[in-house]
Amino acid sequence: MEKPFPEMKNDLILRAARGEETERVPVWIMRQAGRYLPEFRKVSAEYDFFTICRTPELATKVTIQPIDRYDGLLDAAIIFSDILVVPQALGIEVVMLPGKGPHFPNPIVDPEDMHRRLKEKVDVHEDLQYVFDALTMTRHALNGRVPLIGFAGGPWTLMTYMVEGAEKAKGWIHKYPEESQELLQRITDVIVDYLVGQVRAGAQMLQVFESFGGDLGPDDFDRLSLPYLTQIVERVKYELGSDAVPMTIFAKGSFYALDSLSSIGYDTVSLNWTIDPEDAIEIAQGRVTLQGNLEPSVLLGSDQEIEVETEKMVRRFGSSTRYIANLGHGILPSVRLEAVDVFLRTVHRVGRRSVAE
Ligand code: CP3
Repeated sequence: MEKPFPEMKNDLILRAARGEETERVPVWIMRQAGRYLPEFRKVSAEYDFFTICRTPELATKVTIQPIDRYDGLLDAAIIFSDILVVPQALGIEVVMLPGKGPHFPNPIVDPEDMHRRLKEKVDVHEDLQYVFDALTMTRHALNGRVPLIGFAGGPWTLMTYMVEGAEKAKGWIHKYPEESQELLQRITDVIVDYLVGQVRAGAQMLQVFESFGGDLGPDDFDRLSLPYLTQIVERVKYELGSDAVPMTIFAKGSFYALDSLSSIGYDTVSLNWTIDPEDAIEIAQGRVTLQGNLEPSVLLGSDQEIEVETEKMVRRFGSSTRYIANLGHGILPSVRLEAVDVFLRTVHRVGRRSVAE
């Protein structure tokens, strides 16, 4: 018999994602476990990036670091991993160059190369079981303090990496339109199994990072991203039951797609800073919870500036909006530890709600 997971002490973010009332605006930070934390740098000086991802004890430790440091201030943990574990599972090598970022030594050069090298059948329980194990271990270790978020990259974003960048990916869609759709489909199929497996392993909320969405214009987004993002939410919810787990879509920079993204089944839409809260609220019409969207570099400013800008953001999203506070993209590595504290405390102060308003 598997051990049951600990009872939740704080489920604010799950309720906010489902559109239920909350006594306070929940808050977390994209990329909250990572390079701005000295305790993370210590672990990453000792172990290679993907070794941390593949070792459940290390992934658990690093996932919980920000929860411990900002004790009581963060309303979610996000599992320590990377969107690029899916290309790895498909058979494409990825290395993480310290201080530089991901590198693909042998990107896919053309459709023939794709057909030759992409793994025909990916069994996520074979190739990505280590992520599931990390989720289960972390969920226990969190002891119900906050919900645990699982994630995957969006198909367009992963394709961009796998063929070596935006220019090549755009070349593909014009040179090989059919094979591009095939590649996107094959990536999507793995993502679906992967996200379902994450929930079965203990993830309580899921986020899809279509980080390169904004590289696509509206028409291309509708052809190359939206159909796959739709499949992902529909198939994951079909497998697990529609109420099993709230799902968030973050299509960075695709502000033009907010209306469609609000209508395909995701519970939450994460926004970057290129859209005004008022416009987002108007377009979303209460169909989804909005998440975001402080410009991450605000956290490089003074405590006072952080407080002013964060307060402005929370007030603009307003007390009647379905809302989760966050940055508009990942936290920058040079952010001061104190800056994070100021951001979180400001959301707690300004985001208090009288439930019966
Ligand atoms: O949020 C978290 O703290 C959980 C862990 C997490 C990482 N990557 C760890 C990481 C998450 C959610 C991701 C997602 C991810 N990875 C995305 C989508 C989010 C986004 O930022 O748009 C993307 C595009 C990647 C690919 C990736 N991985 C890049 C571009 C880089 C290098 C630049 C950077 O932001 O650090 C990584 C490396 C990476 N992934 C690090 C961490 C903690 C830094 C590793 C190091 O240098 O020590």
